[in-house]
Amino acid sequence: MNRYLKLDKWNIIEEGFMRENVTPSESIFSIGNGRMGQRANFEEKYSGKTLQGNYIAGVYYPDKTKVGWWKNGYPEYFAKVLNATNWIGINIQVNNTELDLNNSEVSEFKRTLNMREGHLTRSFTAKLSNNNTVKINTQRFLSIVNDDLGAIKYSIKAVDFNGKISVTPYIDADVVNEDSNYDEKFWDPISQYASGYEAIITVKTKKTDFAVTTAMRYEIWKNGKKIELSPLASFREKYAESKVEIDVKKGDELIIYKFAANVSSFNHNENKLEDFAKKELDKALDKHFNTMLEEQKQAWAAKWEESDITIEGDIEAQQAIRFNIFQLNQTYTGEDERLNIGPKGFTGEKYGGSTYWDTEAYCLPFYLATADKHVARNLLLYRYKQLSRAIENAAKLGFNHGAALFPMVTMNGEECHNEWEITFEEIHRNGAIAYAVYNYIRYTNDKEYLQDYGLELLIAISRFWSQRITFSKQYNKYVMLGVTGPNEYENNVDNNWYTNTIACWCMDYTRECINYVKKASHEKYAALIKKIDFNEKNETNLWEKISKNMHFPEHKELGIFLQQDNYLNKEQVLVSNLDIKERPINQKWSWDRILRSCFIKQADTLQGIYLFEENYELDTIKRNFDFYEARTVHESSLSPCVHSILAAKLNKMDKAYEMYLRTSRLDLDDYNNEVGEGLHITSMAGTWMSVVQGFGGLRIYNNKVCLNPRIPNSWEGYSFMIRFRGSLIKVTTHKDRVEVENFGSITVPLVIFDKNLELSGNNKIVINR
Ligand code: BGC
Repeated sequence: MNRYLKLDKWNIIEEGFMRENVTPSESIFSIGNGRMGQRANFEEKYSGKTLQGNYIAGVYYPDKTKVGWWKNGYPEYFAKVLNATNWIGINIQVNNTELDLNNSEVSEFKRTLNMREGHLTRSFTAKLSNNNTVKINTQRFLSIVNDDLGAIKYSIKAVDFNGKISVTPYIDADVVNEDSNYDEKFWDPISQYASGYEAIITVKTKKTDFAVTTAMRYEIWKNGKKIELSPLASFREKYAESKVEIDVKKGDELIIYKFAANVSSFNHNENKLEDFAKKELDKALDKHFNTMLEEQKQAWAAKWEESDITIEGDIEAQQAIRFNIFQLNQTYTGEDERLNIGPKGFTGEKYGGSTYWDTEAYCLPFYLATADKHVARNLLLYRYKQLSRAIENAAKLGFNHGAALFPMVTMNGEECHNEWEITFEEIHRNGAIAYAVYNYIRYTNDKEYLQDYGLELLIAISRFWSQRITFSKQYNKYVMLGVTGPNEYENNVDNNWYTNTIACWCMDYTRECINYVKKASHEKYAALIKKIDFNEKNETNLWEKISKNMHFPEHKELGIFLQQDNYLNKEQVLVSNLDIKERPINQKWSWDRILRSCFIKQADTLQGIYLFEENYELDTIKRNFDFYEARTVHESSLSPCVHSILAAKLNKMDKAYEMYLRTSRLDLDDYNNEVGEGLHITSMAGTWMSVVQGFGGLRIYNNKVCLNPRIPNSWEGYSFMIRFRGSLIKVTTHKDRVEVENFGSITVPLVIFDKNLELSGNNKIVINR
């Protein structure tokens, strides 16, 4: 744990320069616009420890998998989102001495991430080794109005000297991925060029052939006026710069405006990238920094209007929830169905920027409730478009007849994880992808999606489950052997309760959807049957039989479901018995010891109870919660939010709040001492869920918005916004009452504290507790 940031409702603030906080802050102050993102590296040179990071959505490299002993079926590669051209660089020399915070005496250092407006500022005074002092103020942002563009305003004041300041804005594509398996460089040079105040570099990824052009242009202003100089432009392979020298007197202020365009063949014509980048720069210079910034502020204001959560009486919680929402909105905007959400977003390299089940199980609810319908739909389409690859993936493993196994880790639909037993056997991800279809439809009522895409995907997944089970004569039941549940501290287990539960639910839901589509559009259904060679009677009968005769491990006396067969054979120790020095166990214990222990990495049985809570009595939920929470070490960031939601449902408000704080300030307070590697973006959606579904009790049942708001003791009140089928609703919870306001024109059916109500458009209701 490392708490060094100031508490503030709308800003993340760092004061004072501490070298050990440079990499953590690079992650925390990251900025992004859905199309690209970057760590909060300094513009000027920094010779201390840093992780330089610029990432472009969708641009990846298939790095050859590293395994000790290769076996058939292992994925060929582990995909990596690429560290791309650094466009922020501006080297500064003051009377021939380099400005480098690592070698300077730094005072009045302050860095602010303005979440309300979407920009990053930094200011400090630095006394260089030649005793010259400069005062620096910088501001930069990645435009969400034009997602190809970024802009920097960098001001230098000569505090106590006369002489020369040289300024060298540059772009540098000679970058490496810190996580490269074989220390390979992933970019090939194509062209580089610099002239006057402009520089352009094009590079191409090895193997995947993504071309990326980065172009920069800059201006120098002195004491409020633009000045013309004679730039010295130069370039070499994958690098281009332009240098100017300016005479300054004590008190003078220089401002460098640097604009950059990053365009890639992922979404532009490869042969026209340079032209396009230049045109984008023309637009940027035309508008200039202040207008672009103004547009940025307005665009962020619009985002906040629909996604903000306010918390009264708890500034830590307020800052944290806004940080989580801000980072989610920076990572994914839903404008391109080929893009998805990597566990670290654009803030680091771990997990390779690939798509995991995190998207469906955690992120989807956030985007469903806070953005236009097409955003969540694009997340679903991403998987649908990869269905044929999922079918190939299953075929490679011996399944047939259109059975689909979606990858646990993917960029383009192919499996690309690097840990077989843990990751690969987590076939439960197929269930989360099916559940996402259900969640999307119950939320949006967009049943067309089911007819056009959803049903085909559900059938392919159900076919997989029906081939993946086997029949056990011993149990006289169907069983699912050799899987890994969400709890990755167990591998190759039999009958993981969660996996069996979601598999059966999926087969049942698919049958329900078949009945719907058949009635809603006979033609579409007939076309689908033909396309996928579907024998409705035989296949659905089999699914029904399996689902009715599946083995679900449980312990009747304890009244709990068992995480898997024989879970109780393990020595039963509670987390409360663990010495704090032993934690986190994944850093202190051997892997063998972890696998043998009963400790659970993340919600597993409870994940299933959370998804299907309407099927269980409150007492059953409570018994399972008490049993599993006591054994869960929460060493995945995805875990505390699910426990928080269930704890709130059980009215265990202290537990719910404890779990909420753990998830919401995980990165800001660096709970696991690893924030320098990047932020936990996907679990941020879990934080949002713990407020809205946990404390707010939001569920969508029977086409109604159901709310059951509770309030943590230390909060005076809180509010959240949700979109529902064309309306925008604000729910405000006070200690004594709940207010619901409908900003749309359509009547919204509500259930509040089990009471059925109708809330007409532009209206508000107040319910006393
Ligand atoms: C978790 C997985 C998750 C992955 C990426 C792992 O630590 O156990 O459930 O998908 O991280 O976030």
